[in-house]
Amino acid sequence: MKLLVVCLGNICRSPMGEGALRARIAQERLDWISVDSAGTSGWHAGEPPDRRAVACARRHGVDISSLRGRQLRREDFFDFDYILCADHDNLAEARALAPEHARERAVLWLPWAGIAGATVVPDPYYGGQEDFEQSWALVDAAARATVQRLLRRDDSGIIPT
Ligand code: 4NP
Repeated sequence: MKLLVVCLGNICRSPMGEGALRARIAQERLDWISVDSAGTSGWHAGEPPDRRAVACARRHGVDISSLRGRQLRREDFFDFDYILCADHDNLAEARALAPEHARERAVLWLPWAGIAGATVVPDPYYGGQEDFEQSWALVDAAARATVQRLLRRDDSGIIPT
């Protein structure tokens, strides 16, 4: 099972989401799940996550400092089972890039994971520490719910939406 977390810049929400997922997967010893992240833009390709995102993840015991930004590409739709998008813009951009047969692999992460209440992870880039904390709370909840969802998978391998 291969998961790709996607946001706009791949320096705030999606690396935090990748870190939160990696932490849950390691905790539950689910080595059949692999995770990566990407941005719909290539603005920060090759860069580490935003220092505020690194600091926020560190406050929650997760080190994301070694991650590097990259842009989402069409080939990702052949490699990954799910493209987990942070907001509606990310979802629209991802689906526009997708080959026809794989378009449905791009989903809005929070509802797909079964999170109640919030639909999107708001962009914290122009915000402050509390905005990063809110993003962390959402991606961490989504990471836990994602693991639960994948553990409920039936024998067909098809995950109901
Ligand atoms: P992200 O946040 O999509 O959560 O990584 C952003 C990062 C950079 C920019 C916008 C959002 N930017 O405009 O450079």
